[in-house]
Amino acid sequence: MCGIVGYVGSKQALDVIVNGLRRLEYRGYDSAGVAIISDGALVVRKKAGKLANLETLIGSDPMPDSTTGIGHTRWATHGGPTDRNAHPHVSEDGRVAVIHNGIIENFAGLRAELTAAGVVLASETDTEVVAHLLAHSLPEADGDLAEAMRRTCRRLEGAFTLVCIDRTQPDLVVAARRNSPLVVGLGEGENFVASDVAAFVDHTRSALELGQDQVVAIRPDSVVVTDFAGEPVETRPFHVDWDTSAAEKGGYDLYMLKEIAEQPRAVADSLRGRISKDHRIQLDASEAEDAALRAVTKVVVIACGTAAHAGMVAKYAIEHWTRLPVEVELASEFRYRDPIVGPDTLVIAISQSGETMDTLMALRHAKAQGAKTLAICNTVGSTIPRESDAVLYTYAGPEISVASTKAFLTQIIAAYLVGLYLAQVRGSMFEDEIRGILEELDSMPSKVDLVLDTTEPVRALARELASSTSVLFLGRHVGFPVALEGALKLKELAYMHAEGFAAGELKHGPIALIEEGVPVIVIVPSPRGRSVLHDKIVSNIQEVRARGARVIAIAEEGDEVIAEFADHVIRIPAVPTLMQPLVATVPLQVFACEMATARGLDVDQPRNLAKSVTVE
Ligand code: G6P
Repeated sequence: MCGIVGYVGSKQALDVIVNGLRRLEYRGYDSAGVAIISDGALVVRKKAGKLANLETLIGSDPMPDSTTGIGHTRWATHGGPTDRNAHPHVSEDGRVAVIHNGIIENFAGLRAELTAAGVVLASETDTEVVAHLLAHSLPEADGDLAEAMRRTCRRLEGAFTLVCIDRTQPDLVVAARRNSPLVVGLGEGENFVASDVAAFVDHTRSALELGQDQVVAIRPDSVVVTDFAGEPVETRPFHVDWDTSAAEKGGYDLYMLKEIAEQPRAVADSLRGRISKDHRIQLDASEAEDAALRAVTKVVVIACGTAAHAGMVAKYAIEHWTRLPVEVELASEFRYRDPIVGPDTLVIAISQSGETMDTLMALRHAKAQGAKTLAICNTVGSTIPRESDAVLYTYAGPEISVASTKAFLTQIIAAYLVGLYLAQVRGSMFEDEIRGILEELDSMPSKVDLVLDTTEPVRALARELASSTSVLFLGRHVGFPVALEGALKLKELAYMHAEGFAAGELKHGPIALIEEGVPVIVIVPSPRGRSVLHDKIVSNIQEVRARGARVIAIAEEGDEVIAEFADHVIRIPAVPTLMQPLVATVPLQVFACEMATARGLDVDQPRNLAKSVTVE
């Protein structure tokens, strides 16, 4: 991951870069650093820890004026999170500074080659080799920094976005990308490069997507893009349709709280405009013919983390609606186990960022086997939707908090729409059945709103349980992935042992974890859906309660039976079974957020995590 930003123009580069880094800190916060060009010299400051540490350093050791520079916020891969390993890295001759996002897989060989040539490496990173290679390539490239970058990139293997500056060329920033994200911001008399538009949206909403294996040279008045061979390439400009305020906290103390509160709108936006006048569901972009979708015999969902939980929820709905078998697999496992996919398989990649490397690699593997591919993604123009045959975007807006919330709900919505779309083209449901479900979906924003209006009991409970050492989550049917998601949120934010289980599986081992007072949060299926599920979970509650568990039931309004068996009942609105994850997840998000706050932890930037994981 890592966040990168580069600037050339007439403003103070340092201010532009530090502001940009603040927006990119969700990508990693192990260290931060900047390099600017001033009076023909590179001036570099870098510091381990969050951006605030770098700002303190610059406060005590100010940097000179400059209108060209680069900045980096790191999520450590090669080499620990130290000052020494922080980016930018500078070539031995002090001419070139470089920042990097990704992993240079052949760095050990390159490092050995440089060491043999007498270069003394100053860090343990894979990135530093690039600084030296660039400096060595510059004379061969007649001082052309873009050409030196191309020559260097041709020697690299792995995933990288690289951005560099040369102290002898003060109005130039050069960047390159392979497998990692990079966008160009087009200003007037100024230009930007960054991992994400959030870094420059204060300055311009006009942007350019960079393709795979491309190099861009930006100057105040020009942007030149080529491939790694130096051939000019066509680029695709796009307009950023959200503004700065969408990425700010908007009056909330935490991005996570703001994003939890935005869920009704995010769900409504993700549904909006999907239905044509003749009541048919539409995808955002599709090169997959309906005939090809009719021929599909299997659906495979690939995703990571929270997105994988959304896929697990969708499995229940898509199988029910289409009668197609649906497999859900963690992208990192799918890629390396020789999965059985072919032209009759529809592979759905779910990713908030559209840049998760495990998901991207799994998608490419599926494509290579001839599968049809469809992306569900929140980031327009990112790599995963670009490389898929069809796309359905979620309209959650920018999600900044590392722990995913609104993306999860909108991923479920989008995956349900894909399921209904398949049912529509395959004729596995009647049109009025599809319309009925669309109406249920339409009513969900107001149901989620109701949950948000009544979070105080769950917050109070979180504060009360803040010193627990372990919390277990149980669910059945669609409640099972919700239990997994509730546990994931608690692990991510409260650094607490938390596990989600299929309630029926508990007796096959995990029940041994139950001891006096252990909180067990149970997602209770609607008694009106399939009542047997409700009956069974009541039995499971009794099993854990008999062994001393403190049971917290997440149960729908009107389910009076449950009150008898639970120590606490958190009420959610009564909704149809397949809609329940959209309301039942929300109290679990609130619970984790409140518990982390009560434990004095950094909710928006939990330790060791990053929002966008662009390494395998
Ligand atoms: C990271 C984030 C998770 C997220 C996962 C998948 O691990 O911390 O919150 O669920 O990546 O991200 P994606 O962008 O592909 O949905």
